[in-house]
Amino acid sequence: MSKLITVNVNKKPAYDIMLEKDFSMLKGKLVELEYTGKRCCIVCDSNTNKLYLSKFKKAIEGVFDTVVDYTFEAGEERKNTDTVYSIIETLVNNSFDRHDILIALGGGVVGDITGYAAAIYMRGIDFVQVPTTLLACVDSSIGGKTGVDFKSYKNLVGAFKMPSLVYIAIDTLLSLPERQYYNGMGEVMKYGLIMDASLYEWIIEKMYDIHDKKYETLEEMVGYCIDCKKRIVEKDPFEKGDRMLLNFGHTIGHAIEREKNFEFLHGECISLGMVAAAYMSLKKEKISSDEFYEIRDMFVPFNLPITIDNIDPQKILETLKHDKKSNGKTVKFILLKKVGKAYIDETVTDEEILAAIREIHFTEEDMKA
Ligand SMILES: NC(=O)c1ccc[n+]([C@@H]2O[C@H](COP(=O)([O-])OP(=O)(O)OC[C@H]3O[C@@H](n4cnc5c(N)ncnc54)[C@H](O)[C@@H]3O)[C@@H](O)[C@H]2O)c1
Ligand SMILES: [Zn+2]
Repeated sequence: MSKLITVNVNKKPAYDIMLEKDFSMLKGKLVELEYTGKRCCIVCDSNTNKLYLSKFKKAIEGVFDTVVDYTFEAGEERKNTDTVYSIIETLVNNSFDRHDILIALGGGVVGDITGYAAAIYMRGIDFVQVPTTLLACVDSSIGGKTGVDFKSYKNLVGAFKMPSLVYIAIDTLLSLPERQYYNGMGEVMKYGLIMDASLYEWIIEKMYDIHDKKYETLEEMVGYCIDCKKRIVEKDPFEKGDRMLLNFGHTIGHAIEREKNFEFLHGECISLGMVAAAYMSLKKEKISSDEFYEIRDMFVPFNLPITIDNIDPQKILETLKHDKKSNGKTVKFILLKKVGKAYIDETVTDEEILAAIREIHFTEEDMKA
């Protein structure tokens, strides 16, 4: 069963998200977007190149006048302006003009880089997102945030650039390494916790089918999350208010990512951040201790961590206070009123932050206990 979801920006339809089994429905959509006869450049990383590029090219055969591709070595390390300039060089060398198209075929790294290249080449050309990781399907491909890292600063350079289409082929998720798959589950859990208790219940109920990557379950889960993200980005397309709720778990999560030198994946770090934020919600008497333990323990079956060793809580606190999301002295935290309902809390003290970090810190004493 395929699904089509239209995302509005400023109450006007801006782009469609197509949820399909494979690439077979893409060609018709590209024709509908009037891309026939134009040039396109497909951007991949080394993994999606090997796995999908030739299949993808076959699926869109006959639409474009010229199809070129650009591939970079997989990994966050390449998410920088050098890669963006290399893409631009490919476009220049192939005489791309304002009417030609970029296609991102890969995870969030490919999507963010390609979107940013599309935002700046000739002041903006169309781009299509074809996300191939769970994280990219449920999160990064939707909403128009694009950009690259600068030195050790994540996503420091970027632009809002809406895609002209997001095309998801669920089958691509079957080739994901296990750790990458569960990495995406961190964001899935986030939607349930911040805005949709029925999604949260559904995740618990479908736990085994999620493990087995059962087709109908994957499709339903991705669809569920897209609806959540759509609701938020439509309300707040340029991140002025409600969209901040998506940062649940991210303040402490990002600080851990930085402190651990990106040894842990994003979804793993934000899971730790979500446990810490749930603990703060408990301390603020918004949720009960039963609820806290239930939330915490739900990360475990999805191979997501709930404790971490060898961290310095004080250092994590300092890092997160330097994070671009902190506003003057107070750090805005997204906390839970209950499962399915988050709010912005500006009253969290340093002591409360430290206590929450200590809650997820696994120490030698814990080992002895
Ligand atoms: N723009 C946004 O709103 C937004 C939101 C969240 C995250 N992000 C960004 O997304 C990035 C993380 O995305 P990600 O987790 O997809 O990382 P990623 O793009 O690096 O993909 C993870 C790994 O999976 C491989 N891969 C991709 N698709 C595959 C497939 N189908 N089968 C097998 N292997 C596959 C990749 O080559 C890579 O090695 C970060 O840079 C983050 O900042 C952006
Ligand atoms: Zn995230």
